[in-house]
Amino acid sequence: MSILVTGGAGYIGSHTVVQLLEAGELVVVVDNLSNSHQEVFNRIRTITSGELVFVEGDLRDAQLLDNIFKSYDIDSVIHFAGYKAVGESVSKPLMYYQNNILSTLTLLEVMQKHDCNKLVFSSSATVYGDPETVPITEQSPLSATNPYGQTKLMIENILKDMASADANWRIAVLRYFNPVGAHSSGLIGEDPNGIPNNLMPFVAKVAVGQLPQVNVFGDDYDTPDGTGVRDYIHVVDLAAGHLAALNKLKQQSGWQAYNLGTGKGYSVLDVINSFADISEREIPYQIAPRRAGDIATCYASVDYSKQALNWQAKADIKQIIKDHWNWQQQNPNGYKDAN
Ligand code: NAD
Ligand code: WQD
Repeated sequence: MSILVTGGAGYIGSHTVVQLLEAGELVVVVDNLSNSHQEVFNRIRTITSGELVFVEGDLRDAQLLDNIFKSYDIDSVIHFAGYKAVGESVSKPLMYYQNNILSTLTLLEVMQKHDCNKLVFSSSATVYGDPETVPITEQSPLSATNPYGQTKLMIENILKDMASADANWRIAVLRYFNPVGAHSSGLIGEDPNGIPNNLMPFVAKVAVGQLPQVNVFGDDYDTPDGTGVRDYIHVVDLAAGHLAALNKLKQQSGWQAYNLGTGKGYSVLDVINSFADISEREIPYQIAPRRAGDIATCYASVDYSKQALNWQAKADIKQIIKDHWNWQQQNPNGYKDAN
């Protein structure tokens, strides 16, 4: 029996594939490489052995998916594939609705056809919008402030409706907080196209000398130092959360959402200062205007995931930055260096 990983060539997917293989699972990845590089599979195979099949293709291609389900005995699916850039989703909403929603609908139809009913879905803390209180629990109110967030909320609701209509579905919705860091080998990590949108990869590129300085988006938030506070979770801990969720689906049917975070918040300045310490590089920064749509503080309550999934994040911010920096130093141009 195999596990199908959609978007398995991507940042979080690749780290999860490593752990699935290490756990002895047979893994089939489908990815159209729209935001990833085939080199990742050479790296994964350097880290670990095991049976890994890569099918290059688009999730919206029902025929392709049908063939995958016919060729491999797929027991469960981890669904990472989708577009994820908030700003781009505001300027190209149709592209986001088209890809994220249609991919998921196509996947669900083919799963249904082949009686495959276990699904782990990549949702996001973005579904909590601007939270009224922190830490954010799974019961906190949901809202979307941009098309990307809308796609996550819509998919969560589609999955909930599927589970209500058919009690055979077993669905874990994982709401990630801020995934950062890289595998301790430095062989796989996040490889954003162009200038990074997110803080940690941006800071890493300043540390390595590819960008001149960090723009700190606002220092007048209601936080201890005025800069935004987030819950940064090591991607390896996040990946482990997917194995815990798959395990849970063996025992429990229906739809359930889980926060995957650390429960701790760090400010933008905390991240810059820690990165400078650990990398022993100067990280120049300037205070810039707030970024549209940003919130002051976001961190998870992880009580429920701890108890229900028997999972918890282990790496602290220092370990996260150490591993992120190791990846950045070894691969200053990401996977492109491999060619
Ligand atoms: P990523 O872009 O690195 O990985 C996504 C992968 O999906 C890429 O390899 C891309 O090529 C593939 N893909 C996209 N559309 C596809 C399609 N139609 N068919 C086949 N493959 C397709 O992103 P990531 O950071 O690994 O994120 C994985 C998932 O987690 C996404 O759904 C994202 O929205 C969600 N998420 C990410 C973050 C984050 O900050 N990284 C936070 C919360 C949620
Ligand atoms: C973190 C903090 C910024 C860049 C995003 C998505 C969210 C989820 C995770 C997918 C904020 C500040 C950032 C910079 C800065 N992704 N910042 N200068 O916005 O919390 O979450 O990624 O689901 O949906 O919105 O992450 O890393 O962009 O920002 O000052 O150059 O760093 O203002 O306070 P964010 P981020």
